[in-house]
Amino acid sequence: MNKPVLIINGPNLNLLGTREPHIYGSTTLAEVEAMCRARAEKLGLAIEFRQSNCEAEIIDWIHKAISDAAGIIINPAAFSHTSLAILDALNMIEQPIIELHISNPHKRESFRHHSYVTFAATGLICGLGVNGYVLAVDAMADLLKAE
Ligand code: DQA
Repeated sequence: MNKPVLIINGPNLNLLGTREPHIYGSTTLAEVEAMCRARAEKLGLAIEFRQSNCEAEIIDWIHKAISDAAGIIINPAAFSHTSLAILDALNMIEQPIIELHISNPHKRESFRHHSYVTFAATGLICGLGVNGYVLAVDAMADLLKAE
């Protein structure tokens, strides 16, 4: 059986839709999940879609993904800018990793310009709104096909 692509969402993304809609839009995380599932189904990919506000839980999911996932799409949210521990976990992943941000952090406050996760990412999608998730699923399918 094909391993699923793990889509990880970090802190505060559970409140997508009502959280700072002028930055992140009004689509909820459940709607984003439905968008990803629809695209993945068309591409014949299995996905697991998760969100946590807890750094340790995200690290545990990455550890499981070492053997259980075909690739990882991750919006680490604020942990992008702070978590060397998530970078260390991602550095153990040999499968493709796509880092994703709804906004363009480089257009925002300077403390968002640095991401630890970028050091482990195969590629980066940012600034394209929640449509970036669908693009990430497409890009992951291409990366997996090329393997
Ligand atoms: C974010 C950007 C981060 O800087 C921020 O902390 C988030 C969301 C994005 O998707 O644009 O929580 O990752």
